[in-house]
Amino acid sequence: MRRATIGAVLAAAVVSAAGPALAGGGSGAEEIPTFTSDVAPILFDNCVTCHRPGNIAPMSLTSYAEARPWARSIKDLVVSRTMPPWPADPENSLPFRNERRLDDAEIGTIVAWVDGGAPRGLAADLPPLPDFPEGWTYEGGEPDYVFELPVEYTIAAEGEEDYIDFYSAIPWDEDRFAEVLELKPSNYAVVHHSGAYVVDLPAGKMVVDGVLVDDPNAVSEDEQVEGEAGRVAQRVFNEVNLPGTSKLLSYVPGRGVERHRPGTGKRLTAGKWIRWTMHYNPTGKPEVERSRLGIWFNTVPVTHEVLTRQAGNAFPTDPFGTDIYIVEGEEIKPTRDEDGTVRRAQIPNIPPYEDDWKITGITPITEPITLYGLSPHMHLRGKSLKWVVTWPDGREVTVLDVPRFDFNWQIHYELAEPLHLPAGSKITGIGVYDNSLNNRWNPGPHLEVYWGQQSWDEMYQAFTEYTIESQDLTKLGRATNDDE
Ligand code: HEC
Repeated sequence: MRRATIGAVLAAAVVSAAGPALAGGGSGAEEIPTFTSDVAPILFDNCVTCHRPGNIAPMSLTSYAEARPWARSIKDLVVSRTMPPWPADPENSLPFRNERRLDDAEIGTIVAWVDGGAPRGLAADLPPLPDFPEGWTYEGGEPDYVFELPVEYTIAAEGEEDYIDFYSAIPWDEDRFAEVLELKPSNYAVVHHSGAYVVDLPAGKMVVDGVLVDDPNAVSEDEQVEGEAGRVAQRVFNEVNLPGTSKLLSYVPGRGVERHRPGTGKRLTAGKWIRWTMHYNPTGKPEVERSRLGIWFNTVPVTHEVLTRQAGNAFPTDPFGTDIYIVEGEEIKPTRDEDGTVRRAQIPNIPPYEDDWKITGITPITEPITLYGLSPHMHLRGKSLKWVVTWPDGREVTVLDVPRFDFNWQIHYELAEPLHLPAGSKITGIGVYDNSLNNRWNPGPHLEVYWGQQSWDEMYQAFTEYTIESQDLTKLGRATNDDE
């Protein structure tokens, strides 16, 4: 793929910027590019989803007047490939269909434009700005259904980072599937990140004004949960919080749309709840926020449900075998108490000043799956993350390599071609953390780092999205009427 070195691009750009005088006439290909005919198409395709009014980037780049003052900085950041943000190494990863990178020719055009004095060009050449319907990023028109945060939430001007969960009922009588989902803040300045999950309400709880409260009429947990199996299930829920919970998607700056393949989708289970996990940052003035979750239903019958899980995270009720973590060379497994309660593998804290602290999560595949996407999630000590797939014959392929993890750009990588993994394969996610002074984002190299929600704590979440190949949802409940 299009890999001249940056040096070669710059050299080419210098020649072209010097223009016809040096190149001695010819076809006119060496003319200085203009904003309207050459640069605007690149910015409109690659930058204005974020660089437009009311979106996450600090300035808008939708016109010559807006872009011209930034010309030099645009050149620097596209040459260094800082913008558009795409921290994966394409040389060492499979191709992704949502890849957001400029090719060498596009970078050359921008460099030549800036070095040539950043001319405007003819107004008639300007392409139309892309359409952003109602602010949704997904270009497939208005959503079929919109969930809204149950309240308009007020975030105080100052203080701690604010974590709060809200709950919205799923209003349908039967399960529905979403081919496309978009989680969209109403106020980009305060939403640090957010997530949407499908959940059961915990026992003894009810929802009032969108938040969870104790249900005064609830029977106690012990009375409610019958028998050994029920008790174990309840404890597993409390400990691991997984059965009955499935992740729909997350929003982080620059992300918030998930498009699944036709025939596959995320399940919105009738009678369950959408849990919104919101993480807000104070901005110095009081803010209000009311996120929305747009749903575009599948247009063809759904055969496969898209599932999400983390490498290394064990939970016994699914088609994967028991996962393990290897932390700094030592194997750590989930455990079971005497009464059967499953406890998540306890990952030790990251010691102070460690600059290359490694954790590997291994997920054995026990029945054939199709892998669609990967989402690394780490916090401020995250240094790099790599996913490797091992086939039963031992062959290894690096699916995704993020050599310089960037906390600000938590991207969901969507494989261009879904990957079929037979039983006997495994997925390995290798995360490396830097808790030393070398890490300029490190809020406290002298501190032991705990695992937790706060951004000064750490996370190791190597999410994968997949389907189970043997599943065929169209066959369920259709015992009659088959004439094959
Ligand atoms: C996914 C969203 C996103 C996309 C796409 C994107 N940017 Fe940005 N850009 C940002 C954000 C957010 C910032 C400010 C924070 C930062 O620098 O990381 C930024 C910062 C910048 C800056 C520096 C501004 C400053 O204050 O110095 C420049 C220049 C820039 N972007 C140019 C571009 C160009 C050119 C493109 C397309 C080729 C692009 N960006 C694509 C989100 C984006």
